[in-house]
Amino acid sequence: MVAAKVALVTGANTGIGYHVAKQLAEAGVHVLLGSRDSRRGQAAVDTLAADGVTVQLVQLDVTDANSVAAAAKTIETATGRLDILVNNAGIAAGFAPPSQAGVDDVRATYETNVFGVIATTNAMLPLLRRAPSARIVNVTSVLGAMHTMTDPAAPWAALTPLAYRSSKAALNAVTVLYATELRDTGVTVNVVCPGLRATGFGGGPPPPGAADPAEGAAGIVRLALSGDGVTGTFRNYDGTPYPW
Ligand SMILES: NC(=O)c1ccc[n+]([C@@H]2O[C@H](COP(=O)([O-])OP(=O)(O)OC[C@H]3O[C@@H](n4cnc5c(N)ncnc54)[C@H](OP(=O)(O)O)[C@@H]3O)[C@@H](O)[C@H]2O)c1
Repeated sequence: MVAAKVALVTGANTGIGYHVAKQLAEAGVHVLLGSRDSRRGQAAVDTLAADGVTVQLVQLDVTDANSVAAAAKTIETATGRLDILVNNAGIAAGFAPPSQAGVDDVRATYETNVFGVIATTNAMLPLLRRAPSARIVNVTSVLGAMHTMTDPAAPWAALTPLAYRSSKAALNAVTVLYATELRDTGVTVNVVCPGLRATGFGGGPPPPGAADPAEGAAGIVRLALSGDGVTGTFRNYDGTPYPW
């Protein structure tokens, strides 16, 4: 059994998740770096090691039940518990508006952004329940907030990528329901939006205005390490509460 806090970060071989893993490890947390591709994951582990940061690679494809079960078993053996689960892995399979959305793209997006979070959370809950006070942080987007879709004056109101926006709205609902069920267990469940970040998300070059992913990661890490006991909330990366 390791003495330090133990964290699993999904989709941590690149992008925001990579920086979350790095910052948690730098804060003294024993980090399990989740990567669906072991080779890409090992490359991230090696890059971190060259920077003096030690993390442990865990192969984890959140859409693959066998991979999720094997990851839980690996963590059980390695650390015996989990203090922090960051459900960061996310995709946008196409940005089509509703009338042009392919159901396969919508399904693929939900497989990762919604069903993958549920599968991973349920597999890790026995380990999380062993921690004195565990935290689940789900990585959402302001694009999943209902008011950003329903208020025509909201900055993103005109954007209509069905799969991504609705998947993050579903993730928000999933988060609240977990928070309600787990309210008296010492396991808190919250969502945080990392802000618009320059990563490889969605393929292609980052959109104008996309900022440093490390800054978005810092907001996730702050929430993951907080001992405030708050659950069922939506925060922006700067810590401010965000309306659902
Ligand atoms: N970038 C932004 O502006 C922004 C804004 C708001 C919210 N977010 C959210 O932030 C999170 C991270 O996004 P990012 O910008 O860092 O994107 P990214 O650079 O594309 O990284 C996504 C990560 O998720 C992994 N992943 C995808 N499918 C997976 C699966 N089935 N199982 C396990 N891992 C999987 C990817 O692995 P591979 O390398 O193998 O593909 C990668 O490690 C996502 O949930 C996204 O929705 C991003």
